[in-house]
Amino acid sequence: MSNETGQAYLKVEHLGKTFPGATEAVFEHVNFQIERGEFVCIIGHSGCGKTTILQALAGLETASEGHVFMDGREVNAPGLERGVVFQGHALMPWLTVRQNIAFAVRSRWPDWPASQVQQQVLHHVKLVGLEHAIDKKPSQLSGGMKQRVGIARAFAIEPKMLLLDEPFGALDALTRGTIQDELLRICAQTRQTVFMITHDVDEALLLADKILLMSNGPRARIAEVVVNTLPRDRTRAGLHHDPQYYPLRNHLVDFLVDRAKGLSGGRAPAVPVEVRPGLRSLMEAHTAVHTARPAPVDTDQDDSPASAAA
Ligand SMILES: Nc1ncnc2c1ncn2[C@@H]1O[C@H](COP(=O)(O)OP(=O)(O)OP(=O)(O)O)[C@@H](O)[C@H]1O
Ligand SMILES: [Mg+2]
Repeated sequence: MSNETGQAYLKVEHLGKTFPGATEAVFEHVNFQIERGEFVCIIGHSGCGKTTILQALAGLETASEGHVFMDGREVNAPGLERGVVFQGHALMPWLTVRQNIAFAVRSRWPDWPASQVQQQVLHHVKLVGLEHAIDKKPSQLSGGMKQRVGIARAFAIEPKMLLLDEPFGALDALTRGTIQDELLRICAQTRQTVFMITHDVDEALLLADKILLMSNGPRARIAEVVVNTLPRDRTRAGLHHDPQYYPLRNHLVDFLVDRAKGLSGGRAPAVPVEVRPGLRSLMEAHTAVHTARPAPVDTDQDDSPASAAA
């Protein structure tokens, strides 16, 4: 869904970053778009520049070239219309869960009366299932709970765009799964627009509508946009039973294992190709059903290798 001017909600144009003193760009010609309500993941090897791109979207890092436009306006400074969740939850240790979130809500809406702030805090604390811990300080919470507070705080300011940098990277698999389910549910409810960095291909397939595949640096680029054609009502438990799951998953893994390195040094296309590897398997299955002739009835029970191969 583009806005009235035909522009995507978030538009990244020819973004590039060369750090001072470096001879080559970490990444260059990074081009992609995110529509309103879309959940987009980015995957790429360590050091290719994912966090730097996210920081540029947040307005926390200045790019060396290119532009970021959000809802028609150029991004060049941090703003409360973009909520960021980092891997280290970045909570204020001397404040309780309630106070941490209230602080963000008051910064966003300074004119709100205290009761409205509290209502907003409570709603979002409930959303991540932390009512029982609302008056605890971060030191009294587990890693997963702290990360939930970070997510609740980001949602509580109702950002136009949520930026997540490997938010579950430090969590054990069980906790990570539970919070992924929560995020999936909250995003379905709120139609939140999200840009998320992950190293986990299954996490990307569960959460994302589109997955950006980034080539290795130097001069990394977004090489491909993989459209996640798995049904939107997918669940973690049912994901791997879908016929599209393995072709999609294999495509992502093959990119990371085989192709990302060969596309380093600016060898990836400046405008990424959009691919739908999940649908290929469905089309092949469809074609096989419609072109298969009925097998001849085997009356003489010949099971020689030649007839088996026919
Ligand atoms: N402030 C900085 N000064 C110089 N180089 C930097 C700076 N920040 C990042 N880099 C370099 O830029 C490259 C990209 O860093 P970035 O953190 O964006 O990578 P990443 O893709 O997020 O990696 P990871 O998956 O490990 O988090 C790295 O080679 C890093 O060393
Ligand atoms: Mg990073």
